[in-house]
Amino acid sequence: MKLFITGGTGFVGGSLITRLIQDGHEITILTRSLKRVPPLPGGASYLEGDPGTEGPWQKRVGEHDGIINLAGASIFRRWTDSEKKLIRESRILTTKNIVKALEARRVDETHLLSASAIGYYGFQEDQELDERGPAGSGFLADLTREWESASLAAEGLGVRVVLTRFGVVLGKGGGALQKIIPLFKWWLGSPLGNGKQWFSWVHLQDLANIFPFLLEHREISGPVNCTAPGPVRNVDMTKTLGEVLNKPTFMPAVPGFILGTVLGEFGSMLLKGQRVLPKKLTDSGFHFSFPEIRGALEDLVGPSR
Ligand SMILES: NC(=O)c1ccc[n+]([C@@H]2O[C@H](COP(=O)([O-])OP(=O)(O)OC[C@H]3O[C@@H](n4cnc5c(N)ncnc54)[C@H](OP(=O)(O)O)[C@@H]3O)[C@@H](O)[C@H]2O)c1
Repeated sequence: MKLFITGGTGFVGGSLITRLIQDGHEITILTRSLKRVPPLPGGASYLEGDPGTEGPWQKRVGEHDGIINLAGASIFRRWTDSEKKLIRESRILTTKNIVKALEARRVDETHLLSASAIGYYGFQEDQELDERGPAGSGFLADLTREWESASLAAEGLGVRVVLTRFGVVLGKGGGALQKIIPLFKWWLGSPLGNGKQWFSWVHLQDLANIFPFLLEHREISGPVNCTAPGPVRNVDMTKTLGEVLNKPTFMPAVPGFILGTVLGEFGSMLLKGQRVLPKKLTDSGFHFSFPEIRGALEDLVGPSR
């Protein structure tokens, strides 16, 4: 397939593009600046343009069979008012501009796989959440709902829309793990807050495999939880990470206010959570290479890594 990818230069995009190229897809990656992009394998090329503003890049979108929308400013930072505006607009405007570009598309059957997040469900206690779970409230939940509805507008154009609700993506060299591991190391592996909060995660390799699966399984549309089948409580994640890193986990829990001081409102993401299950993927026969946290962490940060 000919695929157009926004945000493809980031943490998820790197692994995803390698995977899609292996499958023989032809890829165009939209980037805001060609100056800081990594080299690409054959079969992929860059297009310079800012998805947050309308421009000549939009003319190219409709030449592709599939659009994978990953663009968005990082949320792994303190959430000041101006950062929140950037986090929100870099997703909503980008998505609206893609949908606008699709109005003039030349390809009949078009697939829009648009990133979303389990933040959609808000922070929940122990309730298991599949794709039918209710939307939550708060900054991330409100943002995610608006982001998804911007993507769903493409359905009115006859486009198949899949909302890939990512859990916390665990991979090497970036993402949440790069932020969490120093915290664990400073505190010798203490649980965060009361440690009972759920942590719904996905291994980057599994996430990269989910996209070709969704491109193939055209009967799937709407929200798809992209999380491992084995979410864990923070205290169990901490214990496992401590064992894998060979660090003791006997210190008292990191108090919530310290996380708030270090990470600002973003720290709330680590103190509260949600227990999400990938029902649509498992019902459709998707095979997770890393269904449980221990195997994922051993692969990513274990002694042989
Ligand atoms: N990583 C996770 O744990 C996680 C969890 C849930 C949801 N997600 C979502 O999945 C998507 C991909 O995640 P990721 O971890 O790969 O993100 P990432 O590493 O931060 O990369 C996102 C890409 O978006 C583009 N971008 C950054 N700021 C932008 C802005 N202001 N306007 C437009 N584009 C901008 C950049 O591409 P250029 O600089 O080349 O334009 C960047 O490479 C994001 O939308 C994220 O919200 C990720």
